Amino acid sequence: MKKRILTGITTTGVPHLGNYLGAIKPALSLAKDFEESFFFLADYHAIIKNNNKTQIKDSVKSVALAWLSAGLDPNKSIFYRQSDVPEILELSWILTCVTAKGLMNRAHAYKAATAINKNEDIDKGISMGLFSYPVLMAADILMFNTTHVPVGSDQIQHIEMTRDIAGRFNHIYKKIFNLPEAIIQSEDFVIPGIDGRKMSKSYNNVIPLLSDEKKLRKSIMKIITNSLEPGEPKDYKTCNVFALYCNFASKEDIEVFKNEYIEGISWSDAKQKLFEIINNDVAPIRERYLSMVDDNDYINDVLNDGSKKARVHAKELLDQLRDSIGLSEIK
Ligand code: TRP
Repeated sequence: MKKRILTGITTTGVPHLGNYLGAIKPALSLAKDFEESFFFLADYHAIIKNNNKTQIKDSVKSVALAWLSAGLDPNKSIFYRQSDVPEILELSWILTCVTAKGLMNRAHAYKAATAINKNEDIDKGISMGLFSYPVLMAADILMFNTTHVPVGSDQIQHIEMTRDIAGRFNHIYKKIFNLPEAIIQSEDFVIPGIDGRKMSKSYNNVIPLLSDEKKLRKSIMKIITNSLEPGEPKDYKTCNVFALYCNFASKEDIEVFKNEYIEGISWSDAKQKLFEIINNDVAPIRERYLSMVDDNDYINDVLNDGSKKARVHAKELLDQLRDSIGLSEIK
């Protein structure tokens, strides 16, 4: 069995530093240890939460550019847009038919959505897309017989459900699916946003990844700190500026910065240091981004090429599946 890694990012919104540090960078680094890697733009997932056509289109482009600018090599990894591989939807239906409804009732995303409908119809405003979302995610993963899936800890339940669904299929029909394993980032790896909560589009606290220097600096200067004056010792342990700095700095740099906190570095100097270290890291990413951003043909070519490769694998597996459930030619 080949070791295959796969992960996707839902294409709602513009990629931020949290996506880069928490998903893109670790996935690209893991890919080096795997024989095959699959990375994709989860746009079928995006339309569950967003029905704004322009936002969906813009987000697909910017998430694609984030992966490519961060160093994804489309000759080494299979990189595609989910909706260019319609086989995933066929698999999703096949899996839907072996998935217990009760299993979906227990999904965190669905439970959170029903929880706010307390005294009314609990399913108010909930689409079938939201309800069956874990099945689509299982199809994403099982379509390529993935062995390992790097995800954030909020996605653990989905990987467990994928294993349940795969096991159920294997039991009813034929052992076709491998049971994938999650690769989870440690619980305490949280990238803080400018207000100290987890960096997330929904909190409106993000630092953009692909912005110009000026915008980057501006959002870093907005990071919330306390009102201690220059010269007053500051606590690095509870500081968002410091926490972000640690994601980019060497051990030695971190020690130096700690001492500067103890000696009372001013907030503007601390933020300037953070800006410089982040800017250093993202400068080559920004450069690659700028070289591609006006070349839609290039981006489309990369994605078309990726989906062609993905579909070869997908069709092969689907033929096998169709045959094992009786959806094949009459003989
Ligand atoms: N649901 C994931 C998220 O919100 C994105 C995603 C969709 C995904 N399909 C996937 C991740 C398959 C890993 C594997 O983060």
